Amino acid sequence: MTFPVANIPVITVDGPSASGKGTVAERVAAALGFHFLDSGALYRLTALSALKRGVALDDEAAVAALAVELPARFRDGLVWLSEENVTDAIRAEAVGEGASKVAALPAVRAALLERQRGYRQPPGLVADGRDMGTVIFPDAVAKVFLTASAEARAERRYKQLIEKGNSANLPALVADMQARDARDTARTVAPLKPAGDALLLDTTWMDVESAVQAVLAHYASRQARSKQGN
Ligand code: DC
Repeated sequence: MTFPVANIPVITVDGPSASGKGTVAERVAAALGFHFLDSGALYRLTALSALKRGVALDDEAAVAALAVELPARFRDGLVWLSEENVTDAIRAEAVGEGASKVAALPAVRAALLERQRGYRQPPGLVADGRDMGTVIFPDAVAKVFLTASAEARAERRYKQLIEKGNSANLPALVADMQARDARDTARTVAPLKPAGDALLLDTTWMDVESAVQAVLAHYASRQARSKQGN
């Protein structure tokens, strides 16, 4: 017997880069024993695949063809492209830049749509990205839009870079955050914006654990409501 997909609960966590949504979404998934989808990783993998094969990032048809066939696997916190462990490679700055470019191509977004929906498996899914609540899972039981000021997000990124032994420049990171927000928000296809029915969670002054608890509480209240039939 197949389980009707509409009965599989989905929690969407959308928001700008470095808002902490990945960490929060992953912990919420672990707390509930749900599957976890890092949709940004799919755009990063698409960009990496294009860069490796010498496909121009603005060649929409060729990049979309790569996205359809993407031999991506996620296992135990590691990301694989075919037989290659690309967990660190997809986090490189150049790949992030490339991901932002290929994510603006409608054919690439269309190519990744069904693949993303395929992650909706029992007992449930927590999906993190930019358009999870608006485009990919509009029927999600609970939607959250996580924000934080550009300064707070730049500071988090700064700490991560320093901890990993990289050099970093805070004003440059703030400027980069603002430029990326503008690009993700202004694009015509699936722009970054909260779903009408999303809970807005500003984490500028909030730690990760409080944000996780807020998402879990929101899910519990939405679930109670949907059981009452509204
Ligand atoms: O969340 P991230 O930094 O890994 O995302 C990488 C890029 O992909 C970023 O520029 C936004 C884009 N993206 C998107 O357009 N839609 C998604 N659902 C997820 C990411």
